[in-house]
Amino acid sequence: MNAKTQKLPAPGGPTGAPESDGANSMWGGRFAAGPAEAMEQINASIGFDRRLYAQDIAGSKAHCAMLVHQRIISQEDGAAILGGLDAILKEIEAGSFVFKTSLEDIHMNVEARLAELIGDAAGRLHTARSRNDQVATDVRLWTRDAVDRLEASLRDLQAVLLDQAEAEADTVMPGYTHLQAAQPVTFGHHMLAYVEMLGRDRGRLQDCRRRMNESPLGAAALAGTSFDIDRDATAATLGFDRPMANSIDAVSDRDYALEFLAAGAIVALHLSRLAEEIVLWCSAGFRFVTLSDAFTTGSSIMPQKRNPDAAELIRGKAGRVIGALASLLIVMKGLPLSYGKDMQEDKEPLFDAADTLQLCVTAMTGMIADMKANRTALKAATAHGFLTATDLADWLVRVLGMPFRQAHHVTGSIVKLAEDRGCGLEQLPLSEMQAFEAGITEDIFSVLSVENAVASRLSSGGTAPERVREAVAAAKERFL
Ligand code: ARG
Repeated sequence: MNAKTQKLPAPGGPTGAPESDGANSMWGGRFAAGPAEAMEQINASIGFDRRLYAQDIAGSKAHCAMLVHQRIISQEDGAAILGGLDAILKEIEAGSFVFKTSLEDIHMNVEARLAELIGDAAGRLHTARSRNDQVATDVRLWTRDAVDRLEASLRDLQAVLLDQAEAEADTVMPGYTHLQAAQPVTFGHHMLAYVEMLGRDRGRLQDCRRRMNESPLGAAALAGTSFDIDRDATAATLGFDRPMANSIDAVSDRDYALEFLAAGAIVALHLSRLAEEIVLWCSAGFRFVTLSDAFTTGSSIMPQKRNPDAAELIRGKAGRVIGALASLLIVMKGLPLSYGKDMQEDKEPLFDAADTLQLCVTAMTGMIADMKANRTALKAATAHGFLTATDLADWLVRVLGMPFRQAHHVTGSIVKLAEDRGCGLEQLPLSEMQAFEAGITEDIFSVLSVENAVASRLSSGGTAPERVREAVAAAKERFL
């Protein structure tokens, strides 16, 4: 059995078994025989790049209109090509288009169908173009849409976080460092931290969109073309800001996908941190929030359970998105200029990461919109961990003029006393505190309650409810 005839399992592509029909019609001039089955399978991208059909057809239409305008092809051929491309778009959208693995990718599937529909004129579409600038154009257009979709969804997530921030601007909870109770904060303030993170994520997406929005079309294989094409025209038609300046760079660059994946990896990381907090907050040790039925599952054996599966999956899927970035970085790192077929491997991680991010942001938005902060449990948790110790030290500095380092030391001794007694700072008798520092007065109790501690954090960006409400209003202006 030779390699050519050896039977391999059917590929996972859309059409099942590949249809081998001898030498390839696109380059059959020099090829007498068709590819081995394994060659066809390793070479084919139609199983995944069919998702580029709309971008591929838009790019071809822009190219065709430009060829007509430049008198490189005739009006009649141009009209036939444009009509055929529209018909193909309809077929694909209706589900009646037959994708063929033997035709390798979306570009050749569309072109072959165009030839079936309009005959010889189809062969003129590829004048002054290569699949190298074609695929670079298609994937750029697709990525640009993915960026816009993700950015809009992140805005929706910011909106529901802002609703929570507004509703819980006065809700006190322990703030943590090292996951150790540190100082009291408000739940609203904590929500606003994520609003800021997502704001930077949107900024990164906007930045990469700006850089990616240049047209590779017209770079042809790598060197440009001898035809008098108008790259400004095709760039404008496709909504690009300008043509890419260098034809070699145009076909070999995948920075736009890498930048999207890098920005996306940070989005995934942010979602994962929020998801992790939600998982913790739902657990019996915390009970800080309650999730809705719509975003939790029960257990098939333990009737009491309500599991935060959506949050866990968002945390888990971050691995896929970060993996997609690593995967494309590694594909690209050793490639000489310009195009290499390795670059066909850009699509699956790109598509998977974009889909995964979209789903995660949507699920997170639903989960946060439904989430209920348990004010009683949040308040109760502030009773542990001497959260107002810093306020005590600050009082010694402010009222007694003590250097902060000394105040820290005195407070440490008072905390140790409360710890030994098993009580809170505010439950210590004044006389016992005075044993450590004679200047302490009754007024000390005014800073030992969590409400007062929170209300006093009025510095810009601080957790005082007043500041939180202002920050919510400002964030609405900045982000919504
Ligand atoms: N399917 C290919 C890809 O995704 C299209 C470009 C192929 N170009 C070539 N000269 N073989 O990269």
